[in-house]
Amino acid sequence: MPPEPLSAEYFDEWYADKAAAPTVAEITNQIMGLPAGLSAGVIPGDAIPGLLAALRLRSGDTLLDLACGRAGYGLTIARETGAALIGVDFSARALDKAREQAARLGVPGATFHVGELTASGLPDASADAVLCTDSIQFPDHPADAYREIRRVLAPGGRVVLTCWEPVTPGDERLSPRLRHVDLAAGLAGAGFTGIAVADQPDWRDRERALWEAAIAIDPGDDPALQSFRDEAARSLDHFELIHRVLATATAP
Ligand SMILES: C[S@@+](CC[C@H](N)C(=O)[O-])C[C@H]1O[C@@H](n2cnc3c(N)ncnc32)[C@H](O)[C@@H]1O
Repeated sequence: MPPEPLSAEYFDEWYADKAAAPTVAEITNQIMGLPAGLSAGVIPGDAIPGLLAALRLRSGDTLLDLACGRAGYGLTIARETGAALIGVDFSARALDKAREQAARLGVPGATFHVGELTASGLPDASADAVLCTDSIQFPDHPADAYREIRRVLAPGGRVVLTCWEPVTPGDERLSPRLRHVDLAAGLAGAGFTGIAVADQPDWRDRERALWEAAIAIDPGDDPALQSFRDEAARSLDHFELIHRVLATATAP
């Protein structure tokens, strides 16, 4: 029986599949405009300067990349700003990839720890900024993840979240995790101030192009390409029901 979707074991297998398939990374990076060789996600490369600016990091600050996966975005930003990166994810395999990537990109001070979105293991007020890309929807109780971000941020610290939100809140055609995503409400509920949520239609267009390219692939008997194609089919199935958003806020 395959592991329960969205468990750490599920993501461990997902990262193992990706490791076996340079083609998947090449297609993804080409369409998302990410540098060749970077292991990242589905935020386009030309969005990274905006994420970096919104985090308002100074050299020596501590940046938490929460649910970092292979930490492509956090590492890129740490390398540019001189911030000390801490990556947390519940997939140990993702963190192995993140460590390899930190060495490859030349961010030797980055550290990575197994932890939960709702329990990162970091001390109170120990981060100057938190980046959480495409992951805040995963906990059973997302409010606990927003509270965790607030807890670890120093006063005045910045949070930058990316996700998808339903076009129609509560839309039952979407998975339970996506149908209730509301970044502004989550941040407000945790007491953040200066909350701004902005639609990102360009990111969405790129992502659609990625899934359309993936669905056109003949995977043959390559399990990594098959998994990429399956993910594309699942994503395109509900693409019209969601929009792409970036949220920023400040810890009081
Ligand atoms: C869609 S990936 C995004 C990875 C990375 N942030 C990026 O944008 O490239 C979601 C990540 O969230 C992690 N994750 C999911 N649920 C989690 C949880 N409850 N606690 C910690 N990490 C979790 C997964 O292991 C995976 O690395």
